[in-house]
Amino acid sequence: MTSDTQGYKQQAGEAAAALVEPGMVVGLGTGTTAIFAIRSIAARLRSGELTDLVAVATSVATSAAAKALGIPLLADDMPRAIDLTIDGADEVDASLDLIKGAGGALVREKIVAQASDRVVIVVDASKVSDVLGIRAHLPVEVLVWGWQAQVRFLDSLGATAAVRETDSHRYVTDGGNLIIDCGFGTITDPAGLAAVLEARAGIVGHGLFVAIASEVIVAGPSGIHHRYRTPG
Ligand code: A5P
Repeated sequence: MTSDTQGYKQQAGEAAAALVEPGMVVGLGTGTTAIFAIRSIAARLRSGELTDLVAVATSVATSAAAKALGIPLLADDMPRAIDLTIDGADEVDASLDLIKGAGGALVREKIVAQASDRVVIVVDASKVSDVLGIRAHLPVEVLVWGWQAQVRFLDSLGATAAVRETDSHRYVTDGGNLIIDCGFGTITDPAGLAAVLEARAGIVGHGLFVAIASEVIVAGPSGIHHRYRTPG
């Protein structure tokens, strides 16, 4: 990652953190962009500018970071509604639909996003595409039991499907599941593909976030741009 990209991630994250207000319940995303928002929220808490704030973490890693930074967390059963969630993405299209999950937290990220009044996505400009599938593979989280059947199913949909590995071991999510990364090429009907995946037993979740983002903050060489979902 270039230092320019790192700087853009920081700018996007900090711009989103500025949207947090005292008293909010805030969803904290996962990844190298969301962490800048988390650090900025923690700094505003320490300065006394933000009070009465509580957060929900989208992964074990984010929970650990938030605790280390002194951000109070809600219980895992999420006893309160979430006002604002800030998270990263791997690819954003012109309609603000997303591919997420390169960091493996896609299911908790989607639970938190769908439970939020407002979802702000923070990305550097390299994540923006006209059509999803150009820049990122689609992660699909599956139960361990029968996982090879899911690889064959995803292949049958036209994907190049490979179980995710780290250090020659199958990657295991916070939920104890596997991830199958799928190259679909361009995904011209994200909602249609999402429906097909959601109908399949054994698929726990997928990284298509369709009509979930309220707003995307893109930082790049031309500055910081806010894009808003048009309702409907
Ligand atoms: C985590 O599972 C992902 O959805 C991340 O939000 C996404 O991969 C973006 O991560 P970076 O900000 O690290 O690129």
